[in-house]
Amino acid sequence: MHRFDADTADLMRAVFDATRLRLGFDQVPLDGPATPVELAARVGQTITPGGLGGRRALELFDEVLARACISADHPRNLAFIPAAPTRSSVMFDLLVGASSIYGGSWMEGAGAVHAENEALRWLADLAGLPAAAGGVFVPGGTVGNLSALVAARGAARARLLAEGRPLPSRWRFICGDEAHSSLYQAAAVLDAEIVPIPTGADGRLTGPLLAAALAGFAREDASVREGASIREDASAVRGLRPDGHDHGDDGGGGYGDDGGGGHGDGEAGRDAAALGVFAVVATAGTTQFGVVDDIRGIVDVAREHRLWVHADGAYGLAALAAPSARVRFDGIADVDSFIVDPHKWLFAPFDACALLYRDPAQGLAAHGPQRADYLEVLDSHTNWNPSDYAIGLSRRARGLPFWFSLATHGTQAYADAIEATLATTRAAAAQITARPELELVREPELSVVVFRRRGWTDTDYQQWSSGLLRAGFAFVPPTRVAGEAVARFAIVNPRTTPDDIGAILSTML
Ligand SMILES: Cc1ncc(COP(=O)(O)O)c(C=O)c1O
Repeated sequence: MHRFDADTADLMRAVFDATRLRLGFDQVPLDGPATPVELAARVGQTITPGGLGGRRALELFDEVLARACISADHPRNLAFIPAAPTRSSVMFDLLVGASSIYGGSWMEGAGAVHAENEALRWLADLAGLPAAAGGVFVPGGTVGNLSALVAARGAARARLLAEGRPLPSRWRFICGDEAHSSLYQAAAVLDAEIVPIPTGADGRLTGPLLAAALAGFAREDASVREGASIREDASAVRGLRPDGHDHGDDGGGGYGDDGGGGHGDGEAGRDAAALGVFAVVATAGTTQFGVVDDIRGIVDVAREHRLWVHADGAYGLAALAAPSARVRFDGIADVDSFIVDPHKWLFAPFDACALLYRDPAQGLAAHGPQRADYLEVLDSHTNWNPSDYAIGLSRRARGLPFWFSLATHGTQAYADAIEATLATTRAAAAQITARPELELVREPELSVVVFRRRGWTDTDYQQWSSGLLRAGFAFVPPTRVAGEAVARFAIVNPRTTPDDIGAILSTML
């Protein structure tokens, strides 16, 4: 199994041939799902005491299993957020896999970590983060958001403790009501409350909406404390505090003290952490519509309230590389952390999310180093160990395929490719507007187009979508907006053309 012999050489050729074939397709087949029963019938028992042999296992993968996986990189796969990895990134991914690189620590993976950090630096520079910024590639936006929020809560907690102030009984973070579902997962893991703010018709969380939410929390808090102090006064008449202890001086800086760093509504005393709010998440490109929150306004309000701003740009922040879209991200230079997934719109293979901290010390404080005698040698004080900056210890150097592609093609090619998808999106919107049977639900901001086919029911959308997939033509599942089924294109593939869009729209007559 571990020796390189004639069988290994034969299998290597077969695997490389299959890879060469897949990489060489001008247009990959779309393929489509199968049921567990169908797959079991077609592949039979694959895990056996004696093994099937590499050739047979590869044949099963090639002929059955791979064909039951929809190609995320097909130009007419416009579902969810698809993928469009460059060929160079995919080729290099093979080498990364073959190189057995441990990417968790500098000691073990210095060369890989250096290269990953170069790619992270490019992203940090696009955003305008300071030179000290840094981070790590994690498996996806979900883990990236969670890791950033863990750091944000850690920072809020540490600050309150350092200032000798009480911790809130419950932590919460704020986002817009169109923010990604992974934030709800993060809230569950953190055992914190997520506060989705209603954003209105444009779906955008703004500075004023954030300010109003914080003012509401402050009012709630003040009335709770007022109620407590009325109860306290009543108890004082009886000579006891409500908790049964003798009435005594609270000492400065207690929960009920608004002066100097308290949490009242007064300008000097604003502190979201004291209200239990440890972060606001600005979405830089919502999944459903591609809407970019008012990052500048959010940052400005957050600064007044000493509040951590995390930008979820898993999908949308790729467009920082496109000059025509940059203006939408005003304020991004001032966030505390952000994520962007190279496996979405930055042309890398699954899976990679870049997590960046403005001050990596905050990430380190929350995530590293893990306490274990056997890990001390990794020396997190002098070394940049990626696993110190997010959840998880062992890690694939998953930023390397992205780095290789960037290094190979140069950043201008990225700008051009993203601009191409934006141009296709504009063409799609124009085609939809020109067709009387179709109607845009909202004007696209980035590369997501949501539109309705007038007169269609849920069943019409479902039948249309299933038909396209069955025919191997396109993958365009419907979505839902305010309960209504509608169609949605997410365009991240520079090889998706206006003609592809036109051909799909023509199937909706
Ligand atoms: C805005 C946004 N945030 C977070 C995520 C979660 O990212 P991942 O699927 O990489 O975990 C997504 C996924 O589509 C997303 O669009």
